[in-house]
This record gives sequence, C-alpha cells and structure tokens, in this order.
Amino acid sequence: MTTKLDPIAEFREDHRKVRDAVLTISEALRDKDVKKAREILGVLNELTGPHFRYEEENLYPALRKYLGEYVDSLYKEHDSVIQTAKVCAGLLAKDTLTDKESEDATNAAMQMLIHVSNCDGLAILSERFNSGEMDDLAKSFEKARAAGVTLLDWADTIRKQK
Ligand SMILES: [Fe+2]
Repeated sequence: MTTKLDPIAEFREDHRKVRDAVLTISEALRDKDVKKAREILGVLNELTGPHFRYEEENLYPALRKYLGEYVDSLYKEHDSVIQTAKVCAGLLAKDTLTDKESEDATNAAMQMLIHVSNCDGLAILSERFNSGEMDDLAKSFEKARAAGVTLLDWADTIRKQK
C-alpha cells in the first residue's frame, strides 16, 4: 500500500528547502565561493521544477475558486522568477564574479526568497480544499515529482507548449 503525500506539508517543506538553499547561495556569494553557489543553484533547479509545475498545472487552477483573477498574477510572478533564475544561472556559470556580478546574483537570490515567502501564503487557503480536491493535488504533486523535470528545462519546453 502506498501512502499518499500530504500536499500542503510537502508544499511547505519544499519552501523551507528553497529558503535555506537561497540563503546558503547568498552566503556563498558573500564568501566569493561561486562553485558552491552554482552547486546549490543546481539542486534548486531540480527541486523547484516539479514544484512550479505542480503549482501551475494543478494548484493554481484549484485556487481560482478562492482567488479568482488574482491567480493570473501568480503565473506572471513565476515568469519573473524563472527569468531571475536564468540570470542567476548565467552569472554563476562563471568561475569568478566581479563585485557587480556578485551583487546582481545576490539580488536575484533575494527575489527568489521573496517569492518563497509569498508562495507559502497559499498554504493557508489550500487548507480549505475538501478531501477529494486534496487527493487530486496529492496525486498531481506526486506525478510532477516522478517526472522530475528541472525548472529551467520545464520552463523552456513543457511550460511553453501550454
Ligand atoms: Fe511554491
């Protein structure tokens, strides 16, 4: 027997991981450890791919009954987070950063942190889904994780085809 995941607990747990990873990237940048920052960004790319996909394909549509048109702005927020992640990945592809590049990467990391903080607020509404809706969310979260497409790959392929 398989136990279904708890979509809200997993959603929030992902946010904690992203929060900690982003803070570690900022610290690594402060220590001029680009290699470490790049490695952590790679982990984030893997973690956030299924998370974003689940949000856009399942959670956001489900939240429309509470948030109406506001949901459209959640997709737009993702557009800008994806752009920021690309900028950050571009900067961290280099072995050494100028002070300006380091500052830009740190700012990009902070944008991601702000997004995590905003996104976690959706959990309070998600708690009101009924058990059928909750089951559907659990299944789709599991499916997105099993597919395991990274954020930037997903953004450039599956997401564009929608
Ligand atoms: Fe999220």
